[in-house]
Amino acid sequence: MTDRAEVDTVSYQVIDGIAWVKFNRPEKRNCMSPKLNRQMLRVLNELEFRDDVGVLVLSGEGSAWSAGMDLKEYFRDTEALGLKGTRHAQREAYTWWERLRWYQKVTIAMVNGWCFGGGYGPLYSCDLAFCSDDAQFGLSEINWGILPGGGATKVAVELMPMRQAMYHALLGENLTGPEAAAAGLVNESVPADQLHGRVSEIAQKLLAKNWETLKATKDAVRRVGEMTYTNAEDYLIRAQEALNFHDKSDGRHKGMKQFLDDKTFRPGLSTYDKNRD
Ligand code: COA
Repeated sequence: MTDRAEVDTVSYQVIDGIAWVKFNRPEKRNCMSPKLNRQMLRVLNELEFRDDVGVLVLSGEGSAWSAGMDLKEYFRDTEALGLKGTRHAQREAYTWWERLRWYQKVTIAMVNGWCFGGGYGPLYSCDLAFCSDDAQFGLSEINWGILPGGGATKVAVELMPMRQAMYHALLGENLTGPEAAAAGLVNESVPADQLHGRVSEIAQKLLAKNWETLKATKDAVRRVGEMTYTNAEDYLIRAQEALNFHDKSDGRHKGMKQFLDDKTFRPGLSTYDKNRD
C-alpha cells in the first residue's frame, strides 16, 4: 500500500475503559505524515471526554511504534511549499502532541518496536511508557544531517542525565528496551509477549482510581518541574481546590470516610472504592 487514506492512518478501539490507539502506517514503519498528524488529532478529540474511556494507550501497528517524522511527506513535500508548508506541517504535529501532554485521561505509550526522532514528542506526551525488550530508541537525526527538532532534544534532556542525552543526540546509536528503561525514556521494558498484558494491568489499576484526581495529579507532575518550591506549593493548593470543584463524586470525602469511619481500606495499601459511599 503506497497511499493510505487519511482516515486509515490511525486505528483505535475502546475495550473495557481503555482506548487502544495505534499509529497505523506499518508499511512505512508508522512514520508521522501530515495525514497521520491530522487524523491523530481527530481521534484524540473523539476519545478525550468519552465516559467509557479512562485510559488511552498509544502503540503502533506492525514492527514499529513510530519511525519518527516522514522524511518525504512531512519534510520534503512540505518544504517544497515554502515556509508556509513547513510551519503548517509543524503545527499539525505539535498540536496533537500538546493535546496529548495535557490530555484529560491518563495516557500510556506502549512502545512495541522502532521509536525514532520525532517519535520522542508523543513518547514524552504520554504520561507513562512501557516498551518491549526488542524495541529500539534512537535520535537518528544526526545520521541524516539535522538536529533533533520537534522537541526531541528537549525530551532527551528532560528524561535523561545530560551526559547520556548528549551522547544519545551526538552518536545516533540506538538503545534497546532495557537500555531505554535504564536511561529513563520509559518506565519499564518487558519481553515482547508480555507487553500488552503488563500495560493492561497498569491501565486496570488506573481505571480503579478517581479519574478527576488522576488528571489533576498528572498535570501537577508536569507543571511543578518549572516552578520554584514556593510557587509549586501554592499551585498545588489551587489545583486541589479546583479538583474539589470538578470532582462531582466528592472522592476525597468518600476516601476519608472509608478509611476513618468504615475502616474498609487503608490508603497506604490500596485505593478507596469509588463505587460506594
Ligand atoms: N520517513 C519516511 N519513510 C520512512 C520512514 C521515515 N521516517 N521510516 C520508514 N520509512 C519507509 C521506508 O522508506 C520504506 O518505504 P518503501 O517501502 O516505500 O521503500 C518503508 O518505510 C519501510 O522501511 P524500511 O527501511 O524498509 O524498514 P526496516 O524495517 O528495514 O527499517 C527503520 C526500519 C525504522 C530502521 C528504517 O525505516 C529507518 O531508519 N527509518 C528512518 C528512521 C528515522 O530516521 N526517523 C527519524 C525521522 S526525524
